[in-house]
Amino acid sequence: MEIIIQRDAEAASRLAAGIVARTVREKPHAVLGFATGQTPIGLYGELVRLHREERLDFERITAFNLDEFVGLKPAHPASYHSYMREHLFRHINIDPARINIPDGLSADIPAVCRDYEDRIHSAGGIDIQILGIGTDGHLGFNEPSSSLASRTRIKTLTARTRRDNAEAFGGEDKVPHHVITMGLGTIMACRMCLLLAFGPAKAHAIAQAVEGPIAAMVPASILQMHPRAVILLDEEAAAGLQRSAYYRWVYENKPGWQKI
Ligand code: PGA
Repeated sequence: MEIIIQRDAEAASRLAAGIVARTVREKPHAVLGFATGQTPIGLYGELVRLHREERLDFERITAFNLDEFVGLKPAHPASYHSYMREHLFRHINIDPARINIPDGLSADIPAVCRDYEDRIHSAGGIDIQILGIGTDGHLGFNEPSSSLASRTRIKTLTARTRRDNAEAFGGEDKVPHHVITMGLGTIMACRMCLLLAFGPAKAHAIAQAVEGPIAAMVPASILQMHPRAVILLDEEAAAGLQRSAYYRWVYENKPGWQKI
C-alpha cells in the first residue's frame, strides 16, 4: 500500500483527481469505479473543474459504481443514482449508456449481481476504483464479516452504517437494510484502488485497515493484499497511524519518476 498524508481533504482530493485525470488522458476508454458518500465530493468537484477548464474528456470512459440501496427508485434523493447525477455525471460529458450502477429495484437481485460482474468483465475490468471507508472498516458496503473473496451480491447493513447514513434519509428508521455491493473480490480485481479518508471519525478504521492484521472484521484491510492500493488521507484520518512519519518521508523523497 502507498499511504499519502496530505494537509487537508482538499489537497488530497486534488491529488486523487490528478491520478484519475492522468488515467483518462492516457486511456480515453478507461473504466472508472466510483464511490459515493461525503468523502469523494471534493474529488468529483475537481474532476468537474478539470472537465470545464482543462477539457478533460469523459466521453469514452465507462463507469461502474460500487453499490446501491435495495428498494430505492433511481430518482429517490438518497439513491446513489441521484448522488452520481448531482455530484458528477450531469456536469461532465459521460455517455449515459456507459454508466453502470446496480439496480436495487429489480425483482431478481441475484441476476442483477451476476450481470454486474459480467458487465465489469466485458468492459475489460476496472482501471481505477475510488473507495471510501466506513467507520466500521467497511469497503463498498462490505460490512465486517464479509467474505474476503466475495463478488457483487446483496448485503445487510449494520446498525452503525445505517446510523452513519441517517442524515441523507431524514432518520435512521428510513435507511434501507439491504444494499447491492461489489464484493471484496470484485474490488481486489481492479487494477488500482484509490481509497480516500478524511476527518477524525475515520482514524480508527484507517489504523486498523493499514496497520492491523488482514481480517474479515475489517474489510478494508484486504487492500494490504492489493498490488496497487493508494491510501489518501488528511491529517485527522491519519492520526491513529503508528508509522506516519515513515509514510511521509517515503512520499516526500520519492524519485520524480515514481511520483503518482
Ligand atoms: P462517507 O462514507 O464518505 O460518507 O464517510 C464512506 C463509506 O461508508 O464507505
